[in-house]
Amino acid sequence: MSAPQEPRAPREGRTPRERGQVAVIGAGTMGHGIAQVAAAAGRRVLLHDADPSSLERGLAQVGANLDKGVSLGKVTPGERETVLARVGGADTLADAVREAELVIEAVPEKLELKRALFAAIEPLAPPDALLATNTSSLSIAELARDLERPANLLGLHFFNPVHIMKLVEVVHGPATSEATLEQGVSFVREIGREPIVVRDSPGFASSRLGVALGLEAIRMLEEGVASAEDIDRAMELGYRHPMGPLRLTDLVGLDVRLGISEYLHETLGGERFRPPELLRRMVAEGRLGRKTGHGFHEWNEPD
Ligand SMILES: NC(=O)c1ccc[n+]([C@@H]2O[C@H](COP(=O)([O-])OP(=O)(O)OC[C@H]3O[C@@H](n4cnc5c(N)ncnc54)[C@H](O)[C@@H]3O)[C@@H](O)[C@H]2O)c1
Repeated sequence: MSAPQEPRAPREGRTPRERGQVAVIGAGTMGHGIAQVAAAAGRRVLLHDADPSSLERGLAQVGANLDKGVSLGKVTPGERETVLARVGGADTLADAVREAELVIEAVPEKLELKRALFAAIEPLAPPDALLATNTSSLSIAELARDLERPANLLGLHFFNPVHIMKLVEVVHGPATSEATLEQGVSFVREIGREPIVVRDSPGFASSRLGVALGLEAIRMLEEGVASAEDIDRAMELGYRHPMGPLRLTDLVGLDVRLGISEYLHETLGGERFRPPELLRRMVAEGRLGRKTGHGFHEWNEPD
């Protein structure tokens, strides 16, 4: 790592207070992908992580994604170099956000962690900077609660893997301004993604519908309606879903899905999202899906 006070400038060089710069905070699964797609669209990006080794891994992963793109013929070697030149690492939060037009956080899904982070970002970033959270479920209103400028905050919910998935949910909280929403939507289009605009509501649009389908499939399996293979095949062949709901639950992780369904059950009420007994049992037994090799299906290569 370079000197701690100095952000490692993208190799193209920078001018002071450069408009259009994007800061991505959290360089994990989602953060490095967000940095990559923003850079591919021509933005200069500074990536920051509280853990220096995660930052290094995130930057390396951007390179690895681009290498794969080159080997598949989807990215030219020149494009690879250009994108890499636009992404730099910042050792401190202040360095990352000081000149940012847009700050996107992708730190773990914990309300207090994200609130503390935004409280730290707000005085460090330019006053008109757009602040975005990649939360998959947390309330935008709660995240904005202690901010001086809650109108500047919105949700930009990307999907994994970010460099491949086209959808971004643009989530407006009660205090999000129209201008913020418009800038969020146009940023998503600029980076070649498809925005959908969603009100701040548990599970937004994607998780709420996706989890509803997954839970119903688990209840059908519990009731012996059909095998896991056939329930998935029904949706894959009958409804042209690229992947059945049980296989998808295996991919996401049964523990992750259980957490989301508990949250939706708690916040939306009723019985729709009450986690089925089978799901609880499989999680307790450590059958978490692909990452453990066993879920509704068997996976030969655990993650
Ligand atoms: N993984 C997914 O499939 C997925 C999909 C959509 C949305 N999300 C959401 O994206 C967010 C990030 O998820 P992820 O899977 O990328 O997590 P991750 O654990 O892979 O990465 C999080 C990174 O944040 C860093 N971090 C923690 N605290 C920090 C701080 N205070 N400042 C800076 N960096 C910090 C960690 O070191 C880690 O590298 C979560 O809100 C999650 O719900 C995840």
